[in-house]
Amino acid sequence: MSAMLLTINANAIELRGSHKANHVACKSCHTKGMKQAGTMEGCLSCHQSYEAVRALTEGKTDLEVNPHIDGHMGELDCTECHHIHKPSKAVCNECHGFDFVTP
Ligand code: HEC
Ligand code: HEC
Ligand code: HEC
Ligand code: HEC
Repeated sequence: MSAMLLTINANAIELRGSHKANHVACKSCHTKGMKQAGTMEGCLSCHQSYEAVRALTEGKTDLEVNPHIDGHMGELDCTECHHIHKPSKAVCNECHGFDFVTP
């Protein structure tokens, strides 16, 4: 019974959006092995740098602040806001009410 549940959980690990469309390999993000969460080092192997992602959201007039970053929390780990296998959630909104839709 528990073995069956484990199988179901393993199958539930999925990608979405561009990572799914681009068939991003598990280990591109799981740079410390599959028993650890994906790392920012993994993210930056494709997304380059904070400057690069900042440029993507800079100048979007519908954004009150640039999440990458106009804050006072420094350069946060990408996965503080972007989750990969579960819905994302900008950490800023633990305190603020920014109208972010976090992909
Ligand atoms: C193997 C390359 C690769 C890795 C590793 C990777 N990404 Fe991506 N990501 C992409 C591509 C390609 C896109 C599509 C947009 C683009 O062309 O830049 C994308 C898009 C995104 C988007 C926009 C939403 C979407 O689905 O289009 C977010 C957010 C994102 N990545 C976050 C992350 C985070 C966080 C990590 C690390 C946990 C990560 N990515 C690791 C290649 C990668
Ligand atoms: C403080 C939360 C936060 C952190 C940390 C963060 N992001 Fe984001 N990111 C967002 C939000 C919110 C958006 C959506 C902005 C919008 O509405 O256009 C976004 C959008 C993106 C996009 C899509 C940009 C586009 O083309 O529209 C990519 C790619 C991305 N983030 C990658 C990253 C990567 C890589 C890191 C780490 C270097 C990172 N983000 C760190 C909150 C965050
Ligand atoms: C784009 C980056 C990325 C890719 C590709 C990726 N992962 Fe992950 N994975 C993460 C991150 C980040 C976490 C931490 C939880 C989260 O953000 O969803 C995680 C968490 C996990 C976990 C722990 C689940 C939990 O409860 O937190 C497992 C298991 C896992 N990934 C398996 C996989 C497998 C299998 C693949 C390939 C099919 C894969 N991952 C591809 C980034 C990635
Ligand atoms: C733990 C709570 C907390 C978190 C998380 C947090 N902030 Fe703040 N932030 C504050 C407080 C408190 C102030 C001061 C509010 C004031 O002076 O009115 C502030 C002020 C600001 C301001 C200047 C005042 C304003 O509202 O225009 C900006 C911009 C800002 N935060 C952005 C961010 C961003 C972006 C993030 C996520 C990366 C973030 N904050 C995360 C608590 C937080």
